Amino acid sequence: MLIKKKPGWEIPESAVTPELVYADRRRFIQTAAVGSLLAAAPFPVWGKENTPEAPSAHRYPVERNPKYTVEREMTAQKAAETYNNFYEFGSHKEISKAAQELKIDPWTVTIDGMVEKPFQIGIDELLDKMPLEERVYRHRCVEAWAMTVPWSGFPLRSLVDLAKPMSGAKYLQMQTFGEKGMAPGLRQFWYPWPYTEGLTMAEARNDLAFIATGLYGKPIPKQNGAPLRLAVPWKYGFKSLKSIVRFTFTDKRPVTFWEKIGPKEYGFWANVNPDVKHPRWSQATERLLGSEERVPTRIYNGYEEFVADIYTGIKGQKLFM
Ligand code: MTE
Repeated sequence: MLIKKKPGWEIPESAVTPELVYADRRRFIQTAAVGSLLAAAPFPVWGKENTPEAPSAHRYPVERNPKYTVEREMTAQKAAETYNNFYEFGSHKEISKAAQELKIDPWTVTIDGMVEKPFQIGIDELLDKMPLEERVYRHRCVEAWAMTVPWSGFPLRSLVDLAKPMSGAKYLQMQTFGEKGMAPGLRQFWYPWPYTEGLTMAEARNDLAFIATGLYGKPIPKQNGAPLRLAVPWKYGFKSLKSIVRFTFTDKRPVTFWEKIGPKEYGFWANVNPDVKHPRWSQATERLLGSEERVPTRIYNGYEEFVADIYTGIKGQKLFM
């Protein structure tokens, strides 16, 4: 699969996923062995994975918010739903069929840490309380591929308000499910499960930060992170964790999944910047999913006007890795 180092634009994407984990050689070798076995499975028949058993199905489609549209063409639904990163189901892109094993009903979300009163809430009750809308967002993976998709969901800020964080809370830590029985990848003990991500409170409250519960006008498919995942489109895609079970407010900066695996390559901030290369490939351009077309990458993935202010006072931090 991988190993010869090439400039990023020469790396076939099939090799880029292992490149993600290259930083930790021991983890990589074990992962590659398992990954190649899984990759031998036949390519999924698209269709079944497009009809999740979702109790929330009656809620979609929802009205599109015209403030969040982009000039790019929408990515073909099939491409967005069959080319995925979801390491809990395998460290390769064809996990859409395997992900159908994920049980999303019932689904309970825990909200805890520095909040007035910690609580748990079922996904349906949460959706009843949240203002659902559709937003067309870009998504830019750190591996230099990109898509443009219509997410349905609600502003992360609405969930923050529901949680009532204390004034001392500085970060929001989020976690994906982590019980070994829920997905085969979780038995790969060399990964630091559960998948953990974090935002500052200013980022979590930014207009753009969104919790996606739907995609293309229907409940979000399991392979894309059912029943709820983050969408922070100004950051590299690994920040947008899937299938969230826990939101924890804290005064300590979370150490994220990819930071633990490769701290020299993946940081906390991970804002998109075409001029800051990944240590092993260029970030100057991106391939549009579903085509061979490459286009220039934009600072903050084209969302500078929404988010640049957050970072003006921050000095001495690696904001773009
Ligand atoms: N969330 C979890 N729990 N596990 C993952 O492996 N991969 C991330 C992100 N969220 C990942 C995850 C990466 S690297 C990307 S690019 C996006 O999910 C991909 O989202 P998509 O498959 O919906 O395009």
